Amino acid sequence: MELTHDLKRSDFGSKDDLGSIMTESEAMQLLENWVENEKLVFHMKQVGHLMKVYALKKGYDEKEQHLWFVAGLLHDADWDKWPDEHCRKIIEELEARNQDPRVIKAIASHGPRFFGVQPESEMDKMLYAFDELSGLIHAYSLMRPQGYESMEIKGVKKRLKDKSFAAQVSREDIADASQRAGISLEELIQFVIDNQLRS
Ligand SMILES: [Fe+2]
Ligand SMILES: [Fe+2]
Repeated sequence: MELTHDLKRSDFGSKDDLGSIMTESEAMQLLENWVENEKLVFHMKQVGHLMKVYALKKGYDEKEQHLWFVAGLLHDADWDKWPDEHCRKIIEELEARNQDPRVIKAIASHGPRFFGVQPESEMDKMLYAFDELSGLIHAYSLMRPQGYESMEIKGVKKRLKDKSFAAQVSREDIADASQRAGISLEELIQFVIDNQLRS
């Protein structure tokens, strides 16, 4: 398959910037400047939240949790203004701002089929794993009168099988991401149901 947004790069950021990471309010400011689409902002907040909670549950320290959070929060920041240059724009912006190379690499590898960059670190893999799946589960919550309440794995799996539901969500990527993360789809779904940011 043709790589539509091939970054044609494999190195991101600089090792000198390890540990250099913007604050939450700086990241929110960037989103405010770049993203008008509120649904997209919400999607990024959901993914950022899932990333942070995952890192927390893994026992990582606050600095590491923040790293994961910022990667999730900014992963689609350029999609609204520059869809054809996704995710090159945000990568260049973060490099210009001397941000931690691990965050930049995670963002660069959140769509290996498109960007041609493989998720390698645990953070890379979890960003890829949460991205599409959290979108589908959110869409499912919106069609349920009770939202996320009493949502079950089997309901989500039914929506995954129904290709006409949230048709833009790639089932192929969800399965691929789960395999790469080494976490079963069921476990990922349950984690998203339990921890996803609501409304
Ligand atoms: Fe994306
Ligand atoms: Fe996304």
